[in-house]
Amino acid sequence: MADFQINMAANFVGKMVKVMGWIRHIRSSGSIYFIEVRDGYGEIQCVVVKSEVEERLFKECAELKLESSLVVEGLLREEKRAPGGYEIFVKDIQIINIPDEEYPISKKSHGIDFLMEHRHLWLRSKRQWAILRIRSELERILREYFYKKDFVLIDTPILTGSIGESAGNLFETDYFDLGKAYLAQTGQLYLEAAASSFKKVFCFGPTFRAEKSKTRRHLTEFWMLEAEVAFYDTNDNMDLQEDMISYVIDEVLRSRKNELKILERDIKKLEAIKPPFPRISYDEAIEILKKKGFSIEWGDDIGGDEETAISTNFSKPVFIYNYPGTIKAFYMKPNPEDDRTVLCDDMLAPEGYGEIIGGSQRDDDYNSLIKRIEDFGLDPDKYDWYLDLRKYGSVPHSGFGLGLERLVSWVCGLQHVRESIAFPRLINRIYP
Ligand code: 4AD
Ligand code: MG
Repeated sequence: MADFQINMAANFVGKMVKVMGWIRHIRSSGSIYFIEVRDGYGEIQCVVVKSEVEERLFKECAELKLESSLVVEGLLREEKRAPGGYEIFVKDIQIINIPDEEYPISKKSHGIDFLMEHRHLWLRSKRQWAILRIRSELERILREYFYKKDFVLIDTPILTGSIGESAGNLFETDYFDLGKAYLAQTGQLYLEAAASSFKKVFCFGPTFRAEKSKTRRHLTEFWMLEAEVAFYDTNDNMDLQEDMISYVIDEVLRSRKNELKILERDIKKLEAIKPPFPRISYDEAIEILKKKGFSIEWGDDIGGDEETAISTNFSKPVFIYNYPGTIKAFYMKPNPEDDRTVLCDDMLAPEGYGEIIGGSQRDDDYNSLIKRIEDFGLDPDKYDWYLDLRKYGSVPHSGFGLGLERLVSWVCGLQHVRESIAFPRLINRIYP
């Protein structure tokens, strides 16, 4: 018997197949059992007819419950009335495990706290299956994109000695005799070093922020795709982000149609994601927000609600560029045309999803950078190595970070990032 996965059913019509999986649903009508089995790739109806199997087997079927695990052997055939259009006419079943207790997650609706507490089981539900298959695919496409563009992958450290982003939300730990170490908020500073060796680099790994805020966009541990390119200015940087997002959306629409359908995602909205994306300055963003009735002044940060308000103005992602330097990170290059602002961009996803990417041109001037490090209350001694990059062959360079969970949430149309990662880490959750 050839290796079989349920998603390959079309190629196995008329053949004997073996499915190893779990019971999603079971019902009987006296002399027949209909068992819906999922195998990780799909689900298929398995029909057990009393007159066609051993008596022992038919009796055992009465014991089967939701999420029992089993191996089913039978004839695969087309059946228009079955969900998916195929079914297995069962010859034999090997029961692996029957739960002693009722499976905690039933068809009835459960509260979010209950589901989060049972995340380890919730992952088996169809919706979570679809989301995490899309996530896996997005990661694959992102890596593919950067390799195709001749970027080199640099795995940046998770334990770091210098603060990468800001002092506000660090996880710290004692590091032997060397003082404090921090869990990385970003791989960026290390990517900047690597960019002067390889020109185009990226990293893709977990990053950590002790976010005090409980929002639908914040995790304390999230995955970030970061890219850094030597000789790129802020406009090249935005072009790259636009090209990457367009590519990713295009590819995922092709390869994860079925999963997007399960999520009832309105894919027309995603199909509209084609370059160019609108680009508005921070100044323009403030004007838009004032017109919408927000009490916001030049110099204020643009928060989640404001981002939502702006992004609903556009059907594509929108860039907001050149924020005031005081509300952005220390490493950004001051704007030569207005030194109150820095050369940076945030990309906001449409449909109210808000910031998915933060990027900037980096300060490549030694004296300016050391001043900014001090202005931000950071210890310049910890940045000797980073400052060296401005001493030896400093070049204009730019990069960005894409939050994977924010991307997944947008693509899948989720209400909250907690569903976009298998085991979310939130301010109030470390279990399971
Ligand atoms: O804008 P951020 O803080 O930028 C950086 O960390 C830069 N060092 C990146 C770079 O230039 N190499 O974070 C980048 C992205 C955000 O746009 C957002 O999508 C995501 O990371 N992000 C979070 N996602 C989930 N939970 C959090 N707490 C997040 N903080 C940032
Ligand atoms: Mg940001």
